[in-house]
Amino acid sequence: MLLTIFGNGVMASAMISGLLKQGFEIEVFGRDEKKLQDLKERYPKIKIDTYEKGVDISGKNVILCIKPYALEIVAKQLKNKASTLFSVLAGTTVEQLKTNIQSVYYIRAMPNIAANFNKSMTTLTGDKEAKEKASIIFGAIGKTLWLGSEKELDTATILAGSAPAFLALVAESLIDGGVKEGLKRVDAEFLARGLFEGFSELLNNYQHPALIKDAVMSPNGVTAKGYAVLEDYKVRSAFIKTYKS
Ligand SMILES: NC(=O)c1ccc[n+]([C@@H]2O[C@H](COP(=O)([O-])OP(=O)(O)OC[C@H]3O[C@@H](n4cnc5c(N)ncnc54)[C@H](OP(=O)(O)O)[C@@H]3O)[C@@H](O)[C@H]2O)c1
Repeated sequence: MLLTIFGNGVMASAMISGLLKQGFEIEVFGRDEKKLQDLKERYPKIKIDTYEKGVDISGKNVILCIKPYALEIVAKQLKNKASTLFSVLAGTTVEQLKTNIQSVYYIRAMPNIAANFNKSMTTLTGDKEAKEKASIIFGAIGKTLWLGSEKELDTATILAGSAPAFLALVAESLIDGGVKEGLKRVDAEFLARGLFEGFSELLNNYQHPALIKDAVMSPNGVTAKGYAVLEDYKVRSAFIKTYKS
């Protein structure tokens, strides 16, 4: 299947790697020839072109990977009616997509940067007629979850799309704390990588995150004391509030 991607940034690049491995043909349109050439050097199998002369998207499966604020300007270059328009634009509604780009079906997708390693957790919503196609395409870059509404997808954008940045903050702070107390940085980083790898197994195998905490925490122990510090600084509340920021 041929996929036509508009945009050549972080998310387009992260997706291309997994999509090529699954045998999709890919053409990428952008506005900057140099950036397109750089992408082609990383992925020689893709076709690249600029979209300034306009691009006929008739019957194509189009993946929109540009910044949300660029929708109107880029949309002017997309001519005719796509088969399905897949958009990864955060906070951009199907209604906005319909106003700007013609397509038979519309799908909103929210992947995350782990797409680089075929480990994206991608949420999907939109026209049910294109649900299977969406699951196949985004299944090539990791796991997918179909949600019943755009509101749910917007909420899930924090949990799956943005949260790698939040977890990076957690990892970095734990490393910095270890260094502050005397660990070599290289050792602290090694420990953090191992921690996150093991934690993924714990999360998959324990029924609830609180049970992981209970299994680690002993009365008056170091974990209990550290946990109390996190509660004092309202870390739980801060994470919950990220959804309304
Ligand atoms: N990064 C993530 O983790 C992530 C996760 C989920 C969803 N997303 C979504 O993915 C989309 C792309 O994000 P990204 O992280 O890939 O950003 P990015 O690396 O900055 O790439 C942005 C893309 O949009 C194009 N663009 C920016 N401003 C433009 C303008 N004024 N006119 C035309 N094109 C313009 C850029 O073209 P140039 O290269 O020529 O500037 C580039 O191709 C966003 O809508 C974002 O919401 C990102």
